[in-house]
Amino acid sequence: MIVKEFISKPHLKTVNRGSFTWSSPSNIALVKYWGKKEHQIPENPSISFTLNNCKTTTSLTFSKKESIEDFSFEVFLDGEKKDDFKPKIKTFFERITIYLPFLKSYRFKIETSNTFPHSSGIASSASGMSALALCLMSIEKDLIGDMSDDYFINKASFLARLGSGSACRSIEGSLVVWGKHDYIEGSSDLYGLKYPFEVHNNFKNYQDSILLVDKGEKQVSSTVGHNLMHGHPFAQERFKQAHENLATLITILKTGDVDRFIEIVESEALTLHAMMMTSMPYFILMKPNTLEIINKIWAFREKTGSKICFTLDAGANVHVLYPEIETKDVLKFIKNELVAYCQNGHYICDNIGFGAKQL
Ligand code: PMV
Repeated sequence: MIVKEFISKPHLKTVNRGSFTWSSPSNIALVKYWGKKEHQIPENPSISFTLNNCKTTTSLTFSKKESIEDFSFEVFLDGEKKDDFKPKIKTFFERITIYLPFLKSYRFKIETSNTFPHSSGIASSASGMSALALCLMSIEKDLIGDMSDDYFINKASFLARLGSGSACRSIEGSLVVWGKHDYIEGSSDLYGLKYPFEVHNNFKNYQDSILLVDKGEKQVSSTVGHNLMHGHPFAQERFKQAHENLATLITILKTGDVDRFIEIVESEALTLHAMMMTSMPYFILMKPNTLEIINKIWAFREKTGSKICFTLDAGANVHVLYPEIETKDVLKFIKNELVAYCQNGHYICDNIGFGAKQL
């Protein structure tokens, strides 16, 4: 599959060396992407909040080399050489070299760091791949000389998607849709689209406190997880449901109906986990403390009328979502009742952000 609109235009400039730095955030899906076709095409549309504090900063330093036979790059995390990151980046370069023909002409040094601990169970692939894609686009922009902002952003998202699907939703904020949806003009399976409709004040600056229940390596990689949707007995119904949930969410986001927002978001999280429990082989990615936290959140909501809710990634950590006006009360609740279920008492306070930044 070759997407013509992202094939590079002729390079009019010569650039021998340089360096670019981008900082790119993580994101948390409200309607989940789970299941993909070939070439990282999602089986259903998804929508996410872009985060603010959980981010990756990547500097890409490059210099022209003689041979153009192979890729040449080194990767550093927090100043330490990371050869174990190389295979993933090599695969990424191989996938995107048709769209960035200069990749084999330069020697690259990739220096990256995350604001969240590497071993926190928070995936760094979305923020990491989007930051790298943006650095590469900065080089391409210099080589071509003239590029519209829209093209820059769309192609960065397109490339990030080829690195890690959900990374395409990390370029902009505060809400990003990825995947073709009938009601959202401009939505695409190829890249993320900044949510184009009205968003009620209730959802502005929403808070996300991430409770770190299990900081270990992911039990199931997302590649394996997505593949489990092939031939999954409930797959087609699930994909249909995601379309419906996204359609419902458009109205909810406009009217500010936080109660219905909670229903959709929690149902999406549990459905994602239900898909993994009902695949073959099957997995339970929640831990006992994940369930303890969910039950506590439900009890707190029942007792206080709070609009707090939860969502989950493909792991045991819990994202606690709540409106900004409840920050004080929810943080007190987290400290008093939820911290006990977090590994070493760790949690990260985040809120909605507006996307990547060049530094
Ligand atoms: O981007 P991937 O391939 O790591 O998949 C991410 C999938 C979920 O985080 C579970 C859901 C989502 O939409 O982000």
